[in-house]
Amino acid sequence: MMRTEVTYAAYLKLDDLLKLQEPRTPDDAADLTTVLSEQFFIVSHQTCELWLKQILGDLAAVEGNFLTMTTTDLERSVDLLCRAGELLRLLHEQLMALERLPLEDFVRFRQYLGTASGAQSSQSHELERVLGSASRSGSLFLAFRAGLERIGADLEEIVGAGVAAGPFHRVVEAMLRVGNGYFQWKIGHVGLVTKMIGEQSGTAGTSGVAYLMDRATMPFTELHELRGKVHERRRRQVG
Ligand code: HEM
Repeated sequence: MMRTEVTYAAYLKLDDLLKLQEPRTPDDAADLTTVLSEQFFIVSHQTCELWLKQILGDLAAVEGNFLTMTTTDLERSVDLLCRAGELLRLLHEQLMALERLPLEDFVRFRQYLGTASGAQSSQSHELERVLGSASRSGSLFLAFRAGLERIGADLEEIVGAGVAAGPFHRVVEAMLRVGNGYFQWKIGHVGLVTKMIGEQSGTAGTSGVAYLMDRATMPFTELHELRGKVHERRRRQVG
């Protein structure tokens, strides 16, 4: 029986993928740079959504691992959390690249966006649900705490013990990296938006920069509080 060779293009479905960027700017020669800038804008958003898909998959696998809390699963979780942290760094860098979008092109094609906005990104809403915010615990942290309770481990002791807590400590550290990476991504977005629209409102009808500033909060408040308590305990011991 003949085996069909898988090609690079077939494996990655490149024919489909490379057709998915459809700038709305009328494609006449006079406007070529605007069309290219709009393509740049579309590719930036599409790649962001692809990385969000990977991040959400990785974090869902971590939540699954917290059901067992075996050493192997904890180490796998550390790897996955570190990967998610790197991907958030990448998302932040992509925003820095998008700062190279020429304003004169953006003002020309922005009218074609209508009310389309990143505020409608369901994957970004899902990421917020998983990571939480300054005022609400996310499902990732809750799954970790529930896993620790099931095996009779105490989070405050783990945070206080540092490296002596082994894989538990590494999970906490990697979660905090994800949290800070997420915050940096959000702040980077505020910087980009400020550069691109100043005080104008967003395509979704929000106040724009002011709205985004309000929403740029840091997740894992509980872990930050527990780390703060380590200072308090030290002060009591020496003082
Ligand atoms: C020139 C580039 C960009 C501009 C001017 C911009 C502008 C905005 C504005 C004004 C908002 C607030 C909602 C609204 O009223 O529309 C928003 C929200 C959002 N944007 Fe962007 N954005 C840009 C690039 C990106 C990119 C590359 C992504 C990556 C997917 C992204 C993801 C989001 C997300 C997830 C939200 C919701 C944030 C939240 O609710 O906290 N944006 N954007």
